[in-house]
Amino acid sequence: MLEYGASTATWVQPMPNTYLPFGIGGHSCPGSELAKLEILVLLHHLTNDYKWEVVGEEEGIQYGQFPVPKGGLPLKITHKEEQTN
Ligand code: HEM
Repeated sequence: MLEYGASTATWVQPMPNTYLPFGIGGHSCPGSELAKLEILVLLHHLTNDYKWEVVGEEEGIQYGQFPVPKGGLPLKITHKEEQTN
């Protein structure tokens, strides 16, 4: 029999340096599944209903802690229905 307060949950230990945006354990984010669904819906609309154009002149990759586009990646995002050309 479980003692009062004992947890039946088993947590898989994450590897060191694992990215845990929603935390882990007893107080991990209860909204994580909702948040992931909302992000999925947002990405669906951004990729299906909008046209993305890279407007920056800079090319190449800047290598640091993480590889990132040199000078950022400025975009022009236009709603497909509002496009004039
Ligand atoms: C991208 C969106 C979100 C991120 C990155 C995020 C991240 C986090 C993190 C890191 C924690 C702390 C976990 C810990 O202490 O170990 C947390 C806690 C919490 N989050 Fe979120 N969250 C997000 C969205 C949401 C949403 C949509 C809801 C509710 C609808 C929500 C409700 C909560 C609540 C109530 C706690 C406190 C849990 C507790 O202390 O037991 N979060 N969240």
